[in-house]
Amino acid sequence: MKTRKGIILAGGSGTRLYPVTLGISKQILPIYDKPMIYYPLSVLMLAGIREIAVITTPQDQEQFKRTLSDGSQWGINLTYIEQPSPDGLAQAYILAEDFLAGAASAMVLGDNVFFGHGLPKLLEEANFNSSGGTVFGYRVADPERYGVVDFDADGKVRGITEKPKVPQSNYAVTGLYFLDGTASVRARGVSPSSRGELEITSLLESYLHDGELNVQQMGRGYAWLDTGTHDSLLDAGNFVRTLEKRQGLQTGSPDEVAYSQGWISSETLRERGMRYHKNSYGRHLVELLEG
Ligand code: TTP
Repeated sequence: MKTRKGIILAGGSGTRLYPVTLGISKQILPIYDKPMIYYPLSVLMLAGIREIAVITTPQDQEQFKRTLSDGSQWGINLTYIEQPSPDGLAQAYILAEDFLAGAASAMVLGDNVFFGHGLPKLLEEANFNSSGGTVFGYRVADPERYGVVDFDADGKVRGITEKPKVPQSNYAVTGLYFLDGTASVRARGVSPSSRGELEITSLLESYLHDGELNVQQMGRGYAWLDTGTHDSLLDAGNFVRTLEKRQGLQTGSPDEVAYSQGWISSETLRERGMRYHKNSYGRHLVELLEG
């Protein structure tokens, strides 16, 4: 079996954050003390994934290369792919077809933040299923903004509807998708929606139709934050700040995950920490070595 590969989808136009995103990609903006993309990247790394494609707009690719380089500083390998125009989430699987070369994948949206004690175990379980797809259902107060899961009376998933006017449940599908090696072929079969996008819900429907979609609940012990508006971006930053100040721990640090996975040495971690010694991100890395 081929090793699962990762995709971070970090293109898009970020129109809800204008004028902030006129000159910079949303996914480079800070969530408290780190670039936004560190958070979804850390999730893929926590899942044990080391081959990762970062999909960006053509004009923003340089910013991402400067921010993340080739990934070797974290013992991973980053590949950059351009999305010429924001034609929908499912298009990622077509753009990444050569990169995936038939391997299973985990795709995460570049503006999604996940936090929770049980995350490594949840990711491990999703990773383990090499056929079909696994997505996560998360209870939200405003489901009409998301892809919403429709359950039948027995709690079985009947369908997923993109931004329904009348939501069938409060469960939104989060921006983290574990799909098997058929995703690119299936994505090619998706027709553009009325808003002209290749919708991820259409791709998921293809799995559902074949009885191959597993929807896992991400329960109340988890935080799933969206960062696409001025308010939600600030809220996410405050959330991370509160956690880090209170616990003296980091969340969303690829340096820490790389070290805990055994992908980088103590020397590398120390160098990385010293490089950022003027702030708590760097100091925390050095503290990790001191136990
Ligand atoms: P959205 O937040 O739906 O779109 P956006 O980032 O363009 O922002 P706005 O609605 O304010 O214009 O996108 C969710 C994530 O998916 C985000 O990280 C950007 C990414 N994305 C792409 O990379 N390519 C795409 O074609 C789309 C639709 C989104």
